[in-house]
Amino acid sequence: MSNTMNKSGAAGARPSLLKEMCAVRPIDPAEGGGKSRLKQVLGPGALTAIGLGATIGTGIFVLTGQVAANQTGPAITLALAIAAFGSMLAALCYSEFAAFLPVPGSAYRYTYATLGEALAWFIGWNLLLEYAISASTVAVSWSAYVVSLLNDAHIHLPEALVNAPLGVDANDRLIATGAIINVPAILIVLACTLVLYVGVSESARANTIMVTLKVAIIVIVVIAGLKYVDTANFRPYIPPNTGSFGHFGWTGVLQGAGIIFFSYVGFDTASTMALEARNPQRDVPLGILGALAISAILYVAMSTVLTGMVNYRHLNVAAPVAVALDAHPQLAWLGWPVKIGIIAGMTSVILTSLLGQPRILLSMADDGLLPPAMARCHPRFKTPHVSTFWTGVFAAIIAGIFPLDVLADLVSIGILLAFAVVCLGVLVLRRTRPDVQRPFRVPWAPVTCTLGTVVCLGLTLTLSNGTWWRLLVWTIVGMSIYALYGFRNSRLRQ
Ligand code: ALA
Repeated sequence: MSNTMNKSGAAGARPSLLKEMCAVRPIDPAEGGGKSRLKQVLGPGALTAIGLGATIGTGIFVLTGQVAANQTGPAITLALAIAAFGSMLAALCYSEFAAFLPVPGSAYRYTYATLGEALAWFIGWNLLLEYAISASTVAVSWSAYVVSLLNDAHIHLPEALVNAPLGVDANDRLIATGAIINVPAILIVLACTLVLYVGVSESARANTIMVTLKVAIIVIVVIAGLKYVDTANFRPYIPPNTGSFGHFGWTGVLQGAGIIFFSYVGFDTASTMALEARNPQRDVPLGILGALAISAILYVAMSTVLTGMVNYRHLNVAAPVAVALDAHPQLAWLGWPVKIGIIAGMTSVILTSLLGQPRILLSMADDGLLPPAMARCHPRFKTPHVSTFWTGVFAAIIAGIFPLDVLADLVSIGILLAFAVVCLGVLVLRRTRPDVQRPFRVPWAPVTCTLGTVVCLGLTLTLSNGTWWRLLVWTIVGMSIYALYGFRNSRLRQ
């Protein structure tokens, strides 16, 4: 690997700091030579299932109702379609990269090959939001669903142990809630980490079962609920703006699209599994595009039925699907199976998000940007066990402390920025390496990639100031680690 690296500066004068930070790690056809460390067991079906596993969860089962009630009204379907459009442009760009550079680093590695080391670190750091913190986010809503299921069964856990100690006030500032820690959220993250530690085929199998269950639940709710849709609930489709940005009207639709973007986070997880795919050039793009297409169709169908079954004003709750079903006593029989299906669905998001993260850390450690222990693989289980362990511990701590909305918005903004950079990266690489064999090419690349960058950046601008501040803090922490460790140990410069 290192023999293909940019050696400028190895002899003679040291290049300027900026030049070093912008150093590009060239495409190496022999990359992925570390394949034997991991098992190649995944086909197109399993990769799509991994994408769906990481995608369908809190977004559709919780946030859809809240965004409809607070930002969009019935136009939640439009917000979902806008977010799907931005995601599709990014998915095409991911697919071009993934097909000729099937390495687990995903967007981090694509950026390293195109826009330089510092930006690659920034993207890798943001991917921590997509995977580890997204797992924490979903664990928080998993906890809420499990607690409500236990309450239904008359088992009541102490409030202080099932809620986040931090919340946000009306000014979007973090405050103490009085709770101690969210224990169920921590436990589910640790349980998933244990499964992942043991093996990828076991995890993929468990994931496929849970994905089947959650897709079935959505299809059943859509088919059963269709009969109870009242078209009066769709009028007005876009409720008039109340006078403040993002509160209904067109700004509400746009802000809704930025928030609900969270529901598509994860469709690209197949790109982190390239070293474990049997035929990565073909199957990883199939997995990415398949997962996005299937989830977009299910989301639009589900949100149409939900906002048709009850007025959007009633959906500002932790379990909007349950509210829609409860509004029609004939559908009461669906209550329990739906809750169990949703819990299984969220479990699969936690599992697959925690599956993707260690592989990105492995890639960064291979490049010297993280300690080498992060790249170690278990001799018997053939999993990146050290990075799996630390991902689990980190995600569990975050899940135990923070509330859902803070985490979800932070994940969305981080990933939107990562997607924008990936779209830009395709354009850059088309120019700098036109010679590279591309098994998949983005159609009308200049238009598609530019539009992808603009849509993703545009959606970040709709998110709240508080989210931007939290992203700033997150970035400062990340760049400090890069300055203190990554920059000094980068293999590109050695
Ligand atoms: N997209 C995932 C979810 O909605 C993170 O749960």
